[in-house]
Amino acid sequence: DNFAILMAGGVGSRFWPVSTQKHPKQFRDLLGAGETLIQTTFRRLTSFVPAENIYILTNEEYHDLVQEQLKEVNDEQIVLEPVMRNTAPAVLLAALKIRKRNENAVMIMAPSDHWIEDESAFKNDVQLAFETCRREDKIVTLGIKPTFPNTGYGYIQFENNSEEKVRPVKKFTEKPSLEKAREFLRKGDHLWNAGIFIWNADFIIRSFSRNQPELFSLFEKGNSVFNTSEESDFIAANYELATDISIDYAILEKEENIYVIPATFDWNDLGTWGSLYNEVEKDMEENAVLNARVLAKDASGNIISSNKNKVVVVEGLQDFIIVDEEEVLLLVPKEKEQDIKEIRNKVQKKF
Ligand code: GDD
Ligand code: MG
Repeated sequence: DNFAILMAGGVGSRFWPVSTQKHPKQFRDLLGAGETLIQTTFRRLTSFVPAENIYILTNEEYHDLVQEQLKEVNDEQIVLEPVMRNTAPAVLLAALKIRKRNENAVMIMAPSDHWIEDESAFKNDVQLAFETCRREDKIVTLGIKPTFPNTGYGYIQFENNSEEKVRPVKKFTEKPSLEKAREFLRKGDHLWNAGIFIWNADFIIRSFSRNQPELFSLFEKGNSVFNTSEESDFIAANYELATDISIDYAILEKEENIYVIPATFDWNDLGTWGSLYNEVEKDMEENAVLNARVLAKDASGNIISSNKNKVVVVEGLQDFIIVDEEEVLLLVPKEKEQDIKEIRNKVQKKF
């Protein structure tokens, strides 16, 4: 059967002050779509995974938000992490739970903060990956044609002179230096890792046992209690002992059986205000307006967001991020969007 794990434990600090520790971006309607990012992701997954086979992996703190926003999900499908340990431990735990339910489970790991334009093209690529992993022990990634040397992504060096839809990966490099990223773009045989993976549960568990033996043995000893009433005690006692590492460093950089499907859909990681700006409607002056009524003069290229449909008057301002929230008003040039994480930390210390 098809299963899914939906990753929803991040804090989204570069989207502050809309994304906060208490209420991160995946639980917000960032795109003005009439639904939150996690609701969009869940709906997208239900076109090839039955709703009862979709697990939500998140921090304990967000239990109520998940229950509120995903009414179709039972409590047994919510995997709660007592502390943040990045994605690898959460993935292993969920894979063990899923394999216990179904030995032949094939699963997709899906981040909750992506923009995907063409859902039917996405579905086609994913279905091909599911078919592949049902038959074979492989990790299948989805690769996006890179457009600039982004150092926040993983890079997939793939077999370029082949017509196969599922290609062998030569090397996976997570978050390279700028110099490396530039080189990868020049070479033309690298794709961005979309952060969406497909594998069969048994194979990913075996990959953990080879590539992350400590983490594997920590969680594997809980196998007898998974999916029972004793599971939460096991997690409470053991989760914080897990290595703090992402799936990309823990498995993708190490495993040999990795394949890539060059994606046929448009994709964007909604990681910063600039990435959001690219995917929403703009007015005549190229201002992106979210939940606000705007009067603009000599103002262009701005992102203007308000949390209560306020009237915002902007004159003589170009390429700014303007975010009005209950307790914070943020004005930062778009080109400084990477600083927002740091600004957020400073504000939290100072006030
Ligand atoms: N459950 C859980 N627990 N989820 C988490 C945790 C955690 O501790 N930390 C992060 N996540 C979730 C985030 O909410 C997001 O949906 C997803 O896991 C990916 O985490 P990010 O922190 O956004 O990863 P990244 O953007 O730095 O890098 C990954 O995604 C890129 C594409 O968007 C990597 O896979 C890169 O290789 C890839 O290019
Ligand atoms: Mg991300």
